[in-house]
Amino acid sequence: MSFKVVASAPGKVILTGEHFVVHGEPSLVMAIDKRAYVEAVTEERKVRIEAPDLNLYWEEGLDLPKPLAPLKLILERLLEEAAKPVGLRIKVRSELPPSSGLGSSAAIAVAATASVSKALGIELTEDEIFELALEAEKIVHLNPSGVDPLISTVGGVIAYRRGEGYVAVEAAVQPIVVVGFTGSRKPTGVMVRKVERLRKAHPEVMAPLFHAGGHLTIEAAEALRIGDLKRLGELLDINHGLLSALGVSTRKLDKLIYLARRAGALGAKLTGAGGGGCMIALCSNEVTADRVARAIERGGGQPLKVKLDNQGVRLEK
Ligand code: MEV
Repeated sequence: MSFKVVASAPGKVILTGEHFVVHGEPSLVMAIDKRAYVEAVTEERKVRIEAPDLNLYWEEGLDLPKPLAPLKLILERLLEEAAKPVGLRIKVRSELPPSSGLGSSAAIAVAATASVSKALGIELTEDEIFELALEAEKIVHLNPSGVDPLISTVGGVIAYRRGEGYVAVEAAVQPIVVVGFTGSRKPTGVMVRKVERLRKAHPEVMAPLFHAGGHLTIEAAEALRIGDLKRLGELLDINHGLLSALGVSTRKLDKLIYLARRAGALGAKLTGAGGGGCMIALCSNEVTADRVARAIERGGGQPLKVKLDNQGVRLEK
């Protein structure tokens, strides 16, 4: 008999603290209402991975496309644990553009862990889903902080510090965020290595920047908790300045950020690893958000209005 299970997990925007979080500083992250879906079907024999949106396919015996390596690891681990002679087919569908800073690969890894474990009759806790997705992420990102698979697992808004865990942040108001996609992509690992090199080359100069980057997140979490969006916006602007100093912004990101600010955003910054990918703009209301979205579009970016999603990983009906 074959079983079919579909699970989904949300993508994210990092409000503050990307890159700093890799080096032990806190980060403020929000799950968004754009998800990755993974369908898992138990079959007679073969193990297969289909990701038609990404134009990727793999089955046992074929060369493995590198972006599918994390999924293969998840399948192998869970098949080993199930210890049943069964094959599996998984199919990935994602609303998140890959390598753009919105946590697409982590959301896919989390949704895959949830759907495959369920299809094989393995009960995993949220912690275990997160751990396996993080292990899988390490294949492509080398030194991930863990923030991406964590937010995809738990949802909502969280303040996270590597090695210490997270606290959920209850936002007093629903933040209105417009994402602007530059259209270009950079693997997270490449950008993380770039920052690491700069940090090692200039330790005395970089240390206060990292301290400021961490402290800024603590203040941003408090601003969101009490609903002071103006203060949060200012902190996003400062955060972008620090990220520029780390060398991860680009001319296109800066252009979209300045256009968003001029159109009335309370604050704007790059989000995720940078080097391309996405920026975010915090807006006080829907009218401003529409104006900001139009400004991003006129500037050659692809705007996307996102909302907070309080649900993390879930099984779909
Ligand atoms: C990626 O979404 C954010 C980075 O801080 C990398 C990480 O935390 O693993 C750049």
